[in-house]
Amino acid sequence: MGVTIVGCGDIGTRVALAYRDEGVDVAGWVRTQQSAEKLRDVAIEAVQIDLDRPVIPASEIGSQRLYYFAPPPPQGQQESRVAQFIAQLKNRPLPQKVVYLSTSGVYGDCRGEWVDESRPPAPMADRAKRRLDGEQRWRAWSEQTGCALVILRVAGIYGPGKLPVERLRSGQPMVAEAEAPITNHIHSLDLVKTARIAMQRGVSGEVYNVCDGAPEPMTRYFNRVADFLGLPRPPVISLEEAQQQLSPGMLSYLRESRRLSNRKLLDELEIELDYPDLQQGLPASV
Ligand SMILES: NC(=O)c1ccc[n+]([C@@H]2O[C@H](COP(=O)([O-])OP(=O)(O)OC[C@H]3O[C@@H](n4cnc5c(N)ncnc54)[C@H](OP(=O)(O)O)[C@@H]3O)[C@@H](O)[C@H]2O)c1
Repeated sequence: MGVTIVGCGDIGTRVALAYRDEGVDVAGWVRTQQSAEKLRDVAIEAVQIDLDRPVIPASEIGSQRLYYFAPPPPQGQQESRVAQFIAQLKNRPLPQKVVYLSTSGVYGDCRGEWVDESRPPAPMADRAKRRLDGEQRWRAWSEQTGCALVILRVAGIYGPGKLPVERLRSGQPMVAEAEAPITNHIHSLDLVKTARIAMQRGVSGEVYNVCDGAPEPMTRYFNRVADFLGLPRPPVISLEEAQQQLSPGMLSYLRESRRLSNRKLLDELEIELDYPDLQQGLPASV
């Protein structure tokens, strides 16, 4: 049985390579010619599509293991790409199972409390509202068709090519640790491993938080990365100063604080994390 990865970027390509190495037929769907060529360069079949246009070769999805890793559209509160994608699955052969990559942002601000999958989502930022909308659309489709679905709520991804190098180099400030929100992380290679195991043995209809289980203040994350890369730590400012100095995107992250539990990931999916905290993950991020 083949594998299709919709949104086959950094994470998708790593998943695809693992299947390719096992001799499984795998196709990656991307938007740009450049990304399609990158996939072909590593002997992965590439399909070039634009999820914003309703022209999807859905016939290729029949009985495939389907990973949906594409990001939502940049604006609004609706996951229009997922909506269109699902609309086109109608009257076509069903995939065998879908793994949908969502975000832990769907929980919104939890005032630093521990959060497991039983906590009702309460997204604040539009990007998280779009993700929750995507989850709900996939869930409704799964219930209607009987096709298996697993949802992964992923924390901040770090790893090779995914460190905030430019931010640190540009000397942008960060709020003092005492005022900083608690953030959560997952190494990209642990996410790749989790996605594959979720496809294999994730229970249909279930949601799993994907994080290393070692939450800490956001400021400490940037300081750790700076120290690791030998760059200056970000200058410290107050939360009040941050309102004037930081981007709306960063301010929206500063408004959300939570400690994400990975108990279900470890106990029920039986994931053994290779990088259970940043101390172990950062050396494997260059
Ligand atoms: N960064 C985080 O901390 C974090 C946390 C939770 C979830 N996520 C999500 O995790 C997912 C995987 O991350 P990643 O690092 O692998 O992302 P990535 O490298 O940016 O890959 C995204 C892929 O989606 C494709 N894509 C984007 N827009 C598309 C469109 N309109 N039509 C068709 N394809 C489109 C891209 O194709 P092209 O390259 O051709 O544009 C690319 O292949 C993303 O959805 C991301 O939002 C990230």
